[in-house]
This record gives sequence, C-alpha cells and structure tokens, in this order.
Amino acid sequence: MSTSAEPIVPLHVAIIMDGNGRWANARGLPRTFGHRKGVETVRETVKAAREAGIGFLTLFAFSSENWRRPEAEINELFGLLKAFIRRDLAELHRANVRIRVIGDRATLKDDIRSLLLEAEERTAGNAGMTLVIAFNYGARDEIARAAARLAEEVRAGRLEPHEIDAQRINDSLDTAGIPDPDLVIRTSGEERLSNFLLWQAAYAELMFVPEFWPDFTPELFRAVLERFAARDRRFGGLSAKPMAAVGS
Ligand code: FPP
Repeated sequence: MSTSAEPIVPLHVAIIMDGNGRWANARGLPRTFGHRKGVETVRETVKAAREAGIGFLTLFAFSSENWRRPEAEINELFGLLKAFIRRDLAELHRANVRIRVIGDRATLKDDIRSLLLEAEERTAGNAGMTLVIAFNYGARDEIARAAARLAEEVRAGRLEPHEIDAQRINDSLDTAGIPDPDLVIRTSGEERLSNFLLWQAAYAELMFVPEFWPDFTPELFRAVLERFAARDRRFGGLSAKPMAAVGS
C-alpha cells in the first residue's frame, strides 16, 4: 500500500474517560460498577490504540479535583488502578508498552507510589506505545509545580529568569519528553477540558463523543480517529504539519 493512501494517525491521543457514574445510574447500579466496567474499556482502548499505531495514549484516571468525591468512591478508583497495574503490567510489558505516570505523587500513599514507580521502571526500556496514566493529575497543579521547580533553579543560581521560555517550562512539566497531544477525546457528551493537559493541548484537536466511557468501543474509537484524519491542522500557520502515518 502506498504511503499516501495510509490514514493519518495521531502520534498522541489523550482521553478524558467521562460518564462511568451516569452509565451505572442509567442501569440502576452503584457508580462503582461504572468504574469497574470503565477498566474493561481501558483494556480494549489500549489494545485498539496499539493496533492503530498510536505512539502515546494518555488516560485521565484520577484528577486532583476527584478528592471531592465520597471516600468510598475514591477508594474504589485507587483500588481499580492498583488492580489494573497488578493484573495487566506483565501483559503490557510483553506487548512492549512503556508506562509513564503524570500527576502529583508526593501526596499519594507509599503503596500506590511504589506500584506506579515499579510500572514505570519495569517498562522503561519498551519502545512500543507509551501509556501515560494521569493520576492525581490537574494541569494547573502541574504548571504550578513546574514553576516552583524553575524558581528553585533560579534561587540555586543555576538558571537566570530570562532563560525561562516555553521550551524550559515544557521540559519542567510532568509530561517532559512526551509530545503534545494531537487529539483530545472526551466521552459522555460533556464539552470541556476540566483541567486536563491545559498547556500541552494548545493545538490539539478536540473531539467530544456522546457515549459514556463504558460504552466507548474500539469501533467508536476508530471512527473518532477517522474524523481526526479528515481535519485540517494549521498550527497557527497555513499548512498542516506532517504526522506519523500507519506503519511509519
Ligand atoms: C469519570 O466518570 C471517570 C473517572 C473519574 C475515573 C476513570 C477511571 C477509570 C476508568 C478506572 C481506573 C483507570 C485505569 C487507567 C485503570 P464519572 O464518574 O465522573 O462519571 P459521571 O460524570 O457520569 O459521574
């Protein structure tokens, strides 16, 4: 197949997995059932992303604002992430997936911190898709932590204030070394970013789908990728930037 006939695949897709609670409520089930079903969708989506040739997949698993939820639901979400890593790490590793975690880890308990670190360290040498898990993540918090790090550098005399530019800020974020998302998807019909990758999504295409996250099938994902391929991205200029094509 010639290169020109291959669909344009986003290098980095980021997803706000919304609607687990409403999916469960609609079935008369507790919200936690929606989160559990949501983990199955996570598995299918990771697989579909790998098959599509996506380089980076970021999933918003727990926001710094989710602490406002009832304690039982918070515990469920933490438990599901831990179970996911314990159960799926070996398989993700075998599939050459690299795991990165973004978000504030300083305030997390030791058990989850060491599990996240283990997932990152064990898969650090993998060159397939990178799965970025945003956990205890909020973009404003991430930017504030980056600013504090840079301020420390200035105070230590290793950096001059005039040397702080967009690149330096970029390199101080949790996502350092990860390309900006080309596409941000949000499920459940809500149309906002909710403090997700605010810096990095500056030029991302945004796509909102009405289905709740547990109903987001690989087929729907592929349909969104097709819509993305049809979009004209200009990055403030006149012509589109080239992107990775399937198989490239
Ligand atoms: C939003 O739905 C979803 C979340 C806050 C959590 C998403 C978490 C998972 C899918 C499971 C754990 C993740 C991984 C990576 C294993 P909502 O509860 O806000 O839904 P609602 O808006 O209908 O209430």
